[in-house]
Amino acid sequence: MSSLPQILREQLVTGPLPFAQVMELALYHPEHGYYGPGPRRIGRGGDFFTSVSVGPLFGKLLALQAVQEWQKQGEPADFTIIEQGAHDGQLAEDVLGALEGHSFCYLIVEPNPRYREAQSKRLGDRVLWVENLAALQTGPQHAFFLCNELPDAFPVHLVRWNGERWRELYVDAACQFVEGDFSSPELAAEAEKLPNDLPTGHTLEINLAMLAWMRELAQAAFRGALFIADYGLDAEEFFDDSRAGGTIRRYRQHQMDGKVLEDLGECDLTTHIHFTRLIEEASCRGLKQREYDLQGRLLGRMALPWLKSLEGKGMDAATMRQFHSLTHPAFMGRSFRCLVLDKSGE
Ligand SMILES: C[S@@+](CC[C@H](N)C(=O)[O-])C[C@H]1O[C@@H](n2cnc3c(N)ncnc32)[C@H](O)[C@@H]1O
Repeated sequence: MSSLPQILREQLVTGPLPFAQVMELALYHPEHGYYGPGPRRIGRGGDFFTSVSVGPLFGKLLALQAVQEWQKQGEPADFTIIEQGAHDGQLAEDVLGALEGHSFCYLIVEPNPRYREAQSKRLGDRVLWVENLAALQTGPQHAFFLCNELPDAFPVHLVRWNGERWRELYVDAACQFVEGDFSSPELAAEAEKLPNDLPTGHTLEINLAMLAWMRELAQAAFRGALFIADYGLDAEEFFDDSRAGGTIRRYRQHQMDGKVLEDLGECDLTTHIHFTRLIEEASCRGLKQREYDLQGRLLGRMALPWLKSLEGKGMDAATMRQFHSLTHPAFMGRSFRCLVLDKSGE
């Protein structure tokens, strides 16, 4: 059976590949991609932590948010929680476990059959699946959409400023970066929007997949809130000189570096979300920003009713630790951002 480097070499015979294609292979090749064969362990014993791996509190806070959203929408009978990027189903289990008497439908958007299998083992018949967002164009009508660390895992194009113009980065047969013309008119149009006063050599990512994702979400039939949590930056941070090498990184066993063309398929590859661009695209597609804030502040506000309900009872040590990890600026509170969008039905 071929290995990923061999598959890549075969594809590179016809010439350099846009980095986005290499990243797609490295993450999603069904046999050899990092995310291909099935959900890997996240958290201790894995390659990185997420808010989900911190413990069930994140899911509990999202469950409270879902109930509030259901009430806001007039308590519709067909209310559905939709999750994308559900991985091994841990967040779904946490949300469902915290819904306390509400029997909302829980729908997972999952293209990978091996992930559906793993999620089904964990969640049984408590959830339903669709393969992609296009399947949501006819329903459900009332929903709360959520995802944690999804668009940071989308393959991105890399572009570099050469002092005069932006050029795309390709990967050649020696597995080195080389500059070339833009591989698509869409990428060229997106590069037009970038600043042209950055230092020569400034490299950054263009996440076309994230923009396409937002367009697809906008076409879904449901009305309701979308909760998007991820690490990311606003425009001024994204284009800052301190990030002249871009935000693309690889993760393995909780170590992070910029050697993104090494050990392809064995490391997670990920980028920060350019939240300003995501919000702009959402707005162009008719979605309104309800809230956007550092995770620490937004989860803190979301937690208020629950914290109030604990008055006089106190919080156990494990929950206290989770709350701290999710919200403290030195942990996940500052680098992670949460965006809540309002979507009116089609
Ligand atoms: C960084 S992991 C986050 C997993 C989980 N949400 C968490 O927070 O622990 C990214 C996940 O997104 C999934 N993913 C990537 N593209 C996807 C897509 N188009 N639809 C559904 N899931 C996707 C990957 O398979 C992977 O499980």
